[in-house]
Amino acid sequence: MSILKREFSKLIDVCLEKEVDKVNSDKYRLKYHLMPPIGWLNDPNGLCQFKGEYHVFYQYSPFDANGGLKFWGHYKSKDMIEWEDLGACLYPDTPHDCHGVYSGSAFVENDRVYFYYTGNVKHVGSYDYINNGRGHNTIMVTSEDGINFNDKKVLLENIDYPSNMTCHVRDPKVFKKNDKYFMVLGARDNNHKGCILLYNSDDLEKWNFLNTISTNEKFGYMWECPDLFELKDECSGETKSILCISPQGIEADGYKFNNIYQSGYFLGNMNLENGNFDFGEFIELDRGFDFYAPQTFIDEKGRTILTGWMGLPDIDEEHYTNPTTKNGWLHALTIPRELVLINNKVYQRPIEELRKLRGIYISRELKSTREYNELKGEVYELDIEFNNDIDNLKINLKSDCNISFDKNERTIKLSLGDSGYGRKTRSVTIDRLNRLQIFSDTSSLEIFVNNGEEVFTTRVYSNSNNDKINISGNLEDVKINMYELGEYKYV
Ligand code: FRU
Repeated sequence: MSILKREFSKLIDVCLEKEVDKVNSDKYRLKYHLMPPIGWLNDPNGLCQFKGEYHVFYQYSPFDANGGLKFWGHYKSKDMIEWEDLGACLYPDTPHDCHGVYSGSAFVENDRVYFYYTGNVKHVGSYDYINNGRGHNTIMVTSEDGINFNDKKVLLENIDYPSNMTCHVRDPKVFKKNDKYFMVLGARDNNHKGCILLYNSDDLEKWNFLNTISTNEKFGYMWECPDLFELKDECSGETKSILCISPQGIEADGYKFNNIYQSGYFLGNMNLENGNFDFGEFIELDRGFDFYAPQTFIDEKGRTILTGWMGLPDIDEEHYTNPTTKNGWLHALTIPRELVLINNKVYQRPIEELRKLRGIYISRELKSTREYNELKGEVYELDIEFNNDIDNLKINLKSDCNISFDKNERTIKLSLGDSGYGRKTRSVTIDRLNRLQIFSDTSSLEIFVNNGEEVFTTRVYSNSNNDKINISGNLEDVKINMYELGEYKYV
């Protein structure tokens, strides 16, 4: 163990001892979402299933709930319900990653996990840290057990990237197709146009640059956390490539692109021979206030599972706040969602494992009602199916959160009051409302519209003990299932 790693590890232990009780007694700690044990969390990293076990790594700043020096934290699980907290695992302890072990991915092959991440380096001096003064190194580290790591190997440095790139080239995601390995990196070029660099390799170590992929028209100045995978359309049977990115620098456009930064995907066909991608429209993955930097992995059952960061970078008082920082922690990951492609649209569905959390169950069929207010709860899954065309609907929960649907405007709207801490409204246009699945945790909501056609993810911090759920509208032929949800277990 390097001296630096030993010292960091001691320091984390000291902080944990000092902070962990305060953190764990916060009423806003979540019950079924992965959170930092103390301090700050951002992107999910290195998602994989290895020898039956699921591994979730994440961007972790244990020393500061407002962010700071990044490590990788680690959780592992056999069923994504019972977790082992393995704490900080990759440390910023070499000259090539001394200012942060930034985001990256995992690739599993032949009893080994290959991790790729960005080593962040900020040179001392007066630099803008965009065009100069910053090192973004692509580093590989392997593991035979998913827990202990071999030595870090620097594979690419800024000098190796195409010469028209700024210093911002990061977040490697590696995958295999037709016996060849590929890597995508998110980047900002010299014209401050967001793009992706595509590499290929025969041995997972030596990477050859293939192409820069970007839209004809500039679409933001930086594309973070790229992901490239395929899904077979359940309607047409056609296999499509999904190029997922978190672009920065996109202007709001009506209901679209309302957050500081976005996350979504382009549907198209990826030609891995010449590196060309034919871009379709960019579609946002989430319509709520707190979603960024999602990553997918394919599990041993063949499911494509996506997890996002339930938060956003560079959010300040002008946008909205999170009261948990004063209790020593901030942010969480979303629940894992299985992705399916239906009619050229990616749908997100809560993974079926979450059913294991279900407890007390209430089921109702409403034939013709204006208002239904028998339900209450804090941590639950509420599933509402509308068999008839509903033309107006309002659901009030967590005291001042409202979810509404208006048939004339064809919009679903989420509005938060004081409990939003500055989060106000987000909307999306849909054709028809068939189903709403609301996953409520102590301080979060994930709302799946029409079997995951649209999703709203948000943090919400209710101060009142009002846990009533009120549903009103032309409730004709409406089926309601509500389950109390239990907690993730930690071993
Ligand atoms: C996305 C991101 C990544 C970077 C990481 C640093 O939220 O900015 O591009 O690798 O976070 O924590």
